[in-house]
Amino acid sequence: MIPEALTFKDVLLTPRRSPIASRGQVDTTGRFSRKIQLKVPLVSANMDTVTEAEMAIAMARLGGLGIVHRFLSIAEEVAEVAKVKRAESVVIEDPYTLGPDATVGEAQRMMEDREVGGLLIVDRGGKLIGVVTERDVRFEERESRRVSEVMTRKLIVGTPGMGEAAARALLAKHKLEKLPLVDKRGGLAGLITAKDILKRRRFPDASKDSKGRLLVGAAIGVVGDYLERAQALHDAGADVLVLDVAHGHADHVIKAVRALKRQKRSFELVAGNVATFEGARDLAAAGADAIKVGVGPGATCSTRVVTGSGVPQLSAVMDAARITKLRGVPICADGGIRDSGDITKALAGGASSIMIGSLLAGTDESPGWTIVRGGMKYKVYRGMASLGATMGRRKKENSRLDDVSEVVPEGVESTVPYRGAAAEVVHQLAGGLRSGMSYSGAKDLKSFWKNAKFVRITGAGWTESMPAKGVISG
Ligand code: XMP
Repeated sequence: MIPEALTFKDVLLTPRRSPIASRGQVDTTGRFSRKIQLKVPLVSANMDTVTEAEMAIAMARLGGLGIVHRFLSIAEEVAEVAKVKRAESVVIEDPYTLGPDATVGEAQRMMEDREVGGLLIVDRGGKLIGVVTERDVRFEERESRRVSEVMTRKLIVGTPGMGEAAARALLAKHKLEKLPLVDKRGGLAGLITAKDILKRRRFPDASKDSKGRLLVGAAIGVVGDYLERAQALHDAGADVLVLDVAHGHADHVIKAVRALKRQKRSFELVAGNVATFEGARDLAAAGADAIKVGVGPGATCSTRVVTGSGVPQLSAVMDAARITKLRGVPICADGGIRDSGDITKALAGGASSIMIGSLLAGTDESPGWTIVRGGMKYKVYRGMASLGATMGRRKKENSRLDDVSEVVPEGVESTVPYRGAAAEVVHQLAGGLRSGMSYSGAKDLKSFWKNAKFVRITGAGWTESMPAKGVISG
């Protein structure tokens, strides 16, 4: 007997009696891993045309999460993670500094490289003696001048441990952008910025760590330098590591999960990808803190066509999600999301979070240029196992490049329509999810899992579900 497996468009959720008057009452909080909760359980994919620092910052501010891809050197991946961790915080514990003898040119370059508007000037003993802002050096043509000649010496400072309200009052009273924190001996102890305070108000759902920094994840592999990479990313502040392998239900992947957990028990580790309960069970038993599910559903995936292997995504998620009930290990449904309704169905099927590639690849925050063709804007989106991505990787690693025909791609390179800011896309997806949960009478994910009832539909049922042709907006 061959069992049947279903995907999102094979089913709908039966509308049920609902106590929810407005979708604003629905709490969409889900877990990406044992320790990481997201108010908006959407995660941008660890792909080189989807997530580097800019996307990760946007996703975390919106209540989701971004996973920086791993097709970078260790130093480059660490730098992307560090950018996210520095993007905002209650107190910046190690602000960028220069000595008084540094030149104006050095200050200009440092501000540009690090994308900050000011630097703190400290003496050899770590004492704060001034501040240089972009305005101080903007029109300074003598690059060799010392910063001590242009810096502001008279400073308003705060004290370590001061609360946000007190800091805000000082920033407002003196019309300041930055408030350095100084200990009793005059030593620099941190920095509070007006920008951070404003961002906290603008993004109330933001995913943050205990220091008020944005959460970020980073991908690793299972061979070569993966243990070293994992340690470096963890040290840089990555909140979760994602073990990224096409076929995660494999002995060497299980071994890698064990090795990573042995190296550092505090690594929060998501492992995958799998498409079955057995896969999820084995990775959870090895110590994974969440399981990523999806073999071949992605928009750029050709795994199923090339290898004949995979499981339609809704069935894969429902099967694997039995591990959440049994052992409390959450499932991330990865790939195949084409509409917000698919997100609703994946969560109803037992997933705790959703990974998205193609729907985010066309946004401003994804890496890569916008292309104009026939008056329309597009961005490149490519599978990480596509020919182009594989060749690019080999070139970076300086491995042999001569024979393209040796590569058996399991992904394609394509373009996706330009979609503007990631915030707009996430707003639509999260809004659709909230509505979807309210149709099932679910105020949160737990009640959604309990209440959700699927019906199987026919092709005609799906055709009926689609808006009629000739629609002019929506
Ligand atoms: P969507 O559908 O959101 O899926 O674009 C994103 C997911 O697709 C997976 N991925 C691949 N799968 N070959 C594959 O079979 C590839 O080259 C490839 N690249 C990405 C990945 O799981 C991602 O999160």
